[in-house]
Amino acid sequence: MGLPRRGRKHLIAMVGLPARGKTFTARKLRGYLSWLGYPTRTFNVGERRRDRLGPGQSAAFFDPDDREATAQREALTDDTLDQAFAWLRGEGRIAIFDATNGTRARRRRIQERCSRADVDLLFVELLENDSDVIDENVRDAKLSSPDYRGVPEAEAWSDFRARIAHYERVYAPLSEEDGSFIRLASRGRTITSHEVRGWISARIASFLTNLQVTKRPVWITRHGESLYNCQGRIGGDAPLSDRGRVFARSLADHVNAHAHELVDLDVWTSTLRRTIDTAIPMGLVPGQWRALDEIDSGVCDGMTYAEIARRMPEEFEARQNDKLRYRYPKGESYEDVIQRLDRVIVELERYRTPVLVVGHRAVLRALYAYFLQLPTAEIPHLEMPLHTVIQLAPTAYGCLEERVALPPLPSPAADGSGPPAPA
Ligand code: F6P
Repeated sequence: MGLPRRGRKHLIAMVGLPARGKTFTARKLRGYLSWLGYPTRTFNVGERRRDRLGPGQSAAFFDPDDREATAQREALTDDTLDQAFAWLRGEGRIAIFDATNGTRARRRRIQERCSRADVDLLFVELLENDSDVIDENVRDAKLSSPDYRGVPEAEAWSDFRARIAHYERVYAPLSEEDGSFIRLASRGRTITSHEVRGWISARIASFLTNLQVTKRPVWITRHGESLYNCQGRIGGDAPLSDRGRVFARSLADHVNAHAHELVDLDVWTSTLRRTIDTAIPMGLVPGQWRALDEIDSGVCDGMTYAEIARRMPEEFEARQNDKLRYRYPKGESYEDVIQRLDRVIVELERYRTPVLVVGHRAVLRALYAYFLQLPTAEIPHLEMPLHTVIQLAPTAYGCLEERVALPPLPSPAADGSGPPAPA
C-alpha cells in the first residue's frame, strides 16, 4: 500500500451563501486530503478581494444590480481560479475553490474551465436555514474578519446581513445539470450526492458525511513504558514495565480529575497489550482498533536501532534518508500507517463526545499531525514522548494543543535510541 503519485487533477468548488461554513469545511478538507498525501490548496476569493482592494467593502459591493462592483467581483473570481489552475498545472493535485459560486452562470464558467483543462470538478454545497447556526457562524468567523475591523458590532451585523440578502436574491441551489456534487444540508444532517465517482471523490464524500462542527476534545497519549521501551527495542507486544504501570494509574487519576470535561469519554486502544494494559485502571472498556497498532517494523521487529544499523546498514540508511516513505522489509512505512489511520480520523470526526486514544509513537505522530494540520513530511520526526497526555481542542480556525507530562519519568533508555534525524 503506497500513495498514488500521479493521477487526475481535481477542482472542488464550494457552493453556499455567506456564513454557511464553507471556509471551515474547505480548511478541514484541505487538511484531510493533504494528510492523506494529495497536494491540496485552498483558493479563497474573499482573501483575494482583501489583497487586491483592501478589506472593508460594505454590503453595497455585493449588490448584484451594481454592474461595476459585479464586474470587479467576477474579475477577482477569475483571478482566483487562474491561481487554482496554475497550481493544478504544477505540483498540485487538488484545488479547493472557496467562494459562494451561487449562480448557474458562475458554475457554468467553472465547468467550462475544468473541461478545457481536463480537470475533474466536484461541487460541495452547504445549505443551512437555521438562523441560530448562521448567527453562530457570523459570530465565530465574520465579525472578527478584517472587513469589520474597527466597525461597531451592531453595524457589522447589519452590514453582513445585507450582504447575505444580496447573495440570496440570485442564489440557485445545485441541480443535476451541475454534474458531480455533494450537498450537505442542515449541518450535514441531510446529504445528497450526485454522480460522485472515483477514489478521491469517495474519500471526500465519506469525510464530509462524518464531519461535525464540534468543540469537544480529543486526547492522545502513548501507552505506559513497556519492557521493550526499556531495552530500546522496536515493535513487539511487550508488557508494561513497573514505571509503565505507575503511569497507567497516573493517567486514570488525571482522567478522573478532568471528568467534568470528559463526560461520555470513549477510550480507544490498539490491539497490543501495552495500550490495553495502560487503559485498564481507567475502568472503562476500551474500543480496540487494529488500525491503531504501531507501525509494523517487519523483519526489524524486536531489534534495537543499533542492531538494525549494524546488521542491515542499507536499510538503516534508507530509513534515515526518507523516513516518511521508507517501508520496513515485510512491514510498513509511515505513508502506509497514514492510509490505515484514515478510518480512525473519519470516525474521530464523527464523534461528538470526547475520545482518549492510547496509542503508539508513530501512529500518534500521524494523528497529531492531522489535527494540527502539519506538513506530512514532518510526521516521522514529531516529538511524541512517553508519559505525556496531549489534549487537542478544535476551534473555528484550528486546534489548540496542551501537553501534560504525568509521573513517573520514563527510563532514560526508552526512546533515547531512536535513529538520529536525517542531516
Ligand atoms: O520505540 C517505540 C516505537 O513505538 C516502536 O515500536 C516503533 O517502531 C517506533 O517507536 C516508531 O518511531 P520511529 O519511527 O521514530 O522509529
